[in-house]
Amino acid sequence: MKLNLSVEEVLTTTRSVRKRLDMDKPVDRSVIEHCIELAVQAPSGGNAQAWHWIIVEDRDLITAIAQKYQANFDKYTSKMEPLEPDDPRMHRSEENKASARYLADNMHRIPMLVLGCVEGRLNELPNAAQAPAWGSIIPALWSFNLALREYGLGTTWTTMHLMSFGEQIVAELLGIPFDSITQVALFPIAHTIGTDFSEALRQPISEFTHYNKW
Ligand SMILES: Cc1cc2nc3c(=O)[nH]c(=O)nc-3n(C[C@H](O)[C@H](O)[C@H](O)COP(=O)(O)O)c2cc1C
Repeated sequence: MKLNLSVEEVLTTTRSVRKRLDMDKPVDRSVIEHCIELAVQAPSGGNAQAWHWIIVEDRDLITAIAQKYQANFDKYTSKMEPLEPDDPRMHRSEENKASARYLADNMHRIPMLVLGCVEGRLNELPNAAQAPAWGSIIPALWSFNLALREYGLGTTWTTMHLMSFGEQIVAELLGIPFDSITQVALFPIAHTIGTDFSEALRQPISEFTHYNKW
C-alpha cells in the first residue's frame, strides 16, 4: 500500500523503526524488489552500479544472523560511553537505548532482512578511493529506506553485526565472497505498526554549517 507522502514528509519522517516493526505480518518480496528498483536510481561513481542486495527470507539464516547481531549488541553496548547530561542528544538517549535493545532481542522474529553490499574491500583503500566507493552505495541504501517508508514498511540502518568477525560469519552463512565484497548495512524489514512518524529533533544547523571557510 502506497502512502502518497510528500517529499518533505518522507525526508522528515523516515525514522529508525524498531519497536513499531510488525514481526507477525509477512513482507511481500515484490514490494522489496520495487523499493530496490527505486533505490538504484541513486547515483554511483562512474555509474558503476557495483551494489548488491541480499534479501534474506530463510528463517534459519535470519536466526543465525540475529544471534550474531544480539551477541555483538550485548558485547558493545555495555562498553559505550554514556552521553553527558547536558548533551542536546541526551533527550532521547534512554528511549533509543531501549529501542535498540528491543531490536537486538527480537531480530530473530523479523519477517525479512536485506543486506546492502558493495564490490571491493573498502577498508583497505586510501580515502581518495574510499570516499567514492562509500558514496556509490550509501545514497542507494538511504533511498531504499525512503522507498520502504512510502510503502508502509520500516527498518533501522544497522551495522552492529559486522563487529567481532560478524562480517566474516555472515559472509560464510550467505555465501558472500568476503575478499571482494564489503557489507555496508543490514536492514531488518517489516510493516510498521501505524504509519504516522514524527520529525526527529536534531541539533540546529548553525552548529555544523560553515560559510566559505571552516
Ligand atoms: C551508520 C549507522 C549505523 C547504525 N547502526 C545501528 C545498529 O547497529 N543498531 C541500531 O539499533 N541502530 C543503528 N543505527 C541507527 C541510529 O542509532 C539511529 O539513527 C538513531 O537511533 C537516531 O534515530 P532517528 O534517525 O530515527 O532519529 C545506525 C545508524 C547509522 C546511520
